[in-house]
Amino acid sequence: MTVFSLTTPIYYVNSDPHLGHAYTTVAADVLARHHRRSGDDVFFLTGTDEHGGNVARAAEAAGLPVKEFCDRVSERFRALAAAVESSHDFFIRTTDPEHERRVQAFVQLLKDRDQLYEGTYAGLYCSSCEMFYAESDLIQPGNFCPLHPTRAAEWVEERNWFFPLRSWAPRLLELYDANPQFVRPRARYNEARSLIEGGLEDVSFSRATVSWGVPVPWEPSQTIYVWVDALLNYRTALEYGLGRDVTATFWPTNLHLMAKDILRLHGIVWPAMLLAAGYEPPQGLFVHGYFSSGGQKMSKTLGNVIDPFEVIESLGADALRFYLLREVQWGQDGDVTWEGLHRRYEGELANDLGNLVSRTTAMVARYRDGVVPAGRSVLEPIDVRVGERLAEIDLTGALEEIWGLVRAANRFVEERAPWALARSDDPADVARLDETLYTLTDAVRSLAVLLWPYMPESAERILEAVGDPGAIGWERAGLGLLEAGAAVRQPPPLFPRVELPA
Ligand code: MSP
Repeated sequence: MTVFSLTTPIYYVNSDPHLGHAYTTVAADVLARHHRRSGDDVFFLTGTDEHGGNVARAAEAAGLPVKEFCDRVSERFRALAAAVESSHDFFIRTTDPEHERRVQAFVQLLKDRDQLYEGTYAGLYCSSCEMFYAESDLIQPGNFCPLHPTRAAEWVEERNWFFPLRSWAPRLLELYDANPQFVRPRARYNEARSLIEGGLEDVSFSRATVSWGVPVPWEPSQTIYVWVDALLNYRTALEYGLGRDVTATFWPTNLHLMAKDILRLHGIVWPAMLLAAGYEPPQGLFVHGYFSSGGQKMSKTLGNVIDPFEVIESLGADALRFYLLREVQWGQDGDVTWEGLHRRYEGELANDLGNLVSRTTAMVARYRDGVVPAGRSVLEPIDVRVGERLAEIDLTGALEEIWGLVRAANRFVEERAPWALARSDDPADVARLDETLYTLTDAVRSLAVLLWPYMPESAERILEAVGDPGAIGWERAGLGLLEAGAAVRQPPPLFPRVELPA
């Protein structure tokens, strides 16, 4: 059995979940489902990142004790994961005492291995990113943060515990050389590698001024830098998440998914701190793009924030999952809008796929009493290509291949014109109608299997309609596997018409 462990970033609880968070979770879920139904032993991890000054300030603004605030917002993220039908194996919270204890043990281990030293940090700090910046990386004049252009980075000077990141550069370069897929896509690999080559600064691993965090074990007046605490979730979750330690099976992590904003921390700091502790670094990272809405960053002030709960309420989780992975080229930046979502819902889900399913089942009902005739498939199978795309973590590419079969099946209906064949008594036409109906029903079945990781609920309804319920395994993805004699019934509309919310 192959093992596949994968993660999303753990999301900050300083504000409510939005579509960007749904995106990474959905993408990870597609991969998790695909691997599971291919027979792999999967561990899929997501959760919330709850410490740091940012969260403490948000709690204060909300007028709540900080832990209570975290409980509430974390619950919203858990609800989002459930609403998008995420099949994660564990939802970690960095305020779990089991996590906190292990974070302390890890930094103690670094200290025991002479991997932490005392120093003074003076620099410009963005408290929204919880990151120090070089003056040249900030927007001038005013030292504004590139990611939070309304916030000026503040001058911070304090005595901290430092991690000698600089000394790990040669080992990091070895890691990158040995594994050309350590970071994908390639452009991100090059970006991370040149950051290392360009020279690394040591990183302050503790904070004297942030009290909402995990105390440094030997100096409890300092807290552990929130990013160290957060990154360690990928390890600690395996140690306690399932009630037993599964690191022997699932470590090192096969794949971390994230957006480009946190590449440096995942591609450089994280492997270095693992190497320093004597742990194996992860096998790979995939960095996807960032999306905007209507050409602009989603923001409450612009009124272009798309609430994932609202999308799911009106169109369903499957439509949201489909749209995100179809519209935004995986690995690149994209743009999402309600209009775009509706266009794809009507054009591709309701028309292309929904009509194909309803026409097919209706014709089998009308011409063959709802029983799949014997025949052979005459369409070109695509499962090998879809499998290859998914193995390369090309989530939009795989979906595009699948849509090729949707379109081919729709063309096939028009070419064969089964309604004309059904009017003929000629035995050749009768046989041709059998072949046509078999090919179509079987193609619909294969499509449902191929689409299952993307749209699990719709796929299961389609499989039930074509008389092959529950057959989601990857070995069923090819064409020609539907048994003649299967009982077909017409499903209620899969993608009913809906009005755009005002
Ligand atoms: N807490 C840190 C991550 C710690 S991981 C050890 C963090 N949290 S976050 O809430 O800001 O989430 C960032 C992640 O959410 C991105 O890396 C990405 O996965 C997802 N996205 C948030 N907004 C997004 C878009 N607008 N577009 C695409 N993905 C987005 O960073």
